[in-house]
Amino acid sequence: MRRICSFLIMVTVLCMLACPAFSEDSMQRIGIISAMQSEVKLLLSEAEIDRVDQVGGLDFHVGTLRGKPVVIVKAGIGKVLAAAGTATLLNRYDISEVIFTGVAGGVGDETKVLDIVVGTGLVQHDLGKLSNDGFEWFDGSDDIGGWFACDKNLIALALEAAVDTVGEDHVFQGVIATGDQFVASEQYVKHLQSDFNALACEMEGASVAAVCEQYGVPYVVLRTMSDKADGLAVSTYGAMVDTASDNSCRIVLKMLELMRDEQRPAA
Ligand code: ADE
Repeated sequence: MRRICSFLIMVTVLCMLACPAFSEDSMQRIGIISAMQSEVKLLLSEAEIDRVDQVGGLDFHVGTLRGKPVVIVKAGIGKVLAAAGTATLLNRYDISEVIFTGVAGGVGDETKVLDIVVGTGLVQHDLGKLSNDGFEWFDGSDDIGGWFACDKNLIALALEAAVDTVGEDHVFQGVIATGDQFVASEQYVKHLQSDFNALACEMEGASVAAVCEQYGVPYVVLRTMSDKADGLAVSTYGAMVDTASDNSCRIVLKMLELMRDEQRPAA
């Protein structure tokens, strides 16, 4: 009998270690990810945080926002940290959907500073082969491809929330180009426009998308333009990043308000 009990305890402990999401928190939650603190500051100030789990150097804020159960994490800048943070989030918690919120450089002629771009698709613009013939992008036709599509329902929700928040003249939907570079070059912006039909560029979206695809979790990326990714981008970004970050947060708050309760996890 004692042996059976010890065996059962051991199996339970092993299961808990293998599935930390269910050992710690079995409630389904909406995952909200950003790269920088400024991009989640407003959300954290509006949330009721029950606890902060520290995992892998990140703070996972577990609580409720606009009545919806959430986990909010600032994952860090660039594709590596974004992917690592997303993987930890999806591995550790039961996440129904992922919303990425933050700022970006405007790429399209039409996207001005403080306009919104809701990503319909994400590309890793810097993923490919660099040879003597130049750079050849991996087009997504194989396992390591660089193209991802956001969830249609989340896109629709983000658009509705964005139009409600800033008005339709300031809301765009289209391709967001992700790479491990802060783009401050008219020449590179032209390349992103002509080769990817991109409306915005940033440094995390497509890697979050890649991990969400692996876990089968729907996602959307929502960005407010902090600059135009041109020669003036560094100073424009410096002046606008806080306002642009808050703008995206306000849209996320609206998205949560608009989510129909019967479709979403209850708090
Ligand atoms: N995020 C905000 N502005 C950006 C830019 N110009 N390039 C890359 N990521 C950005």
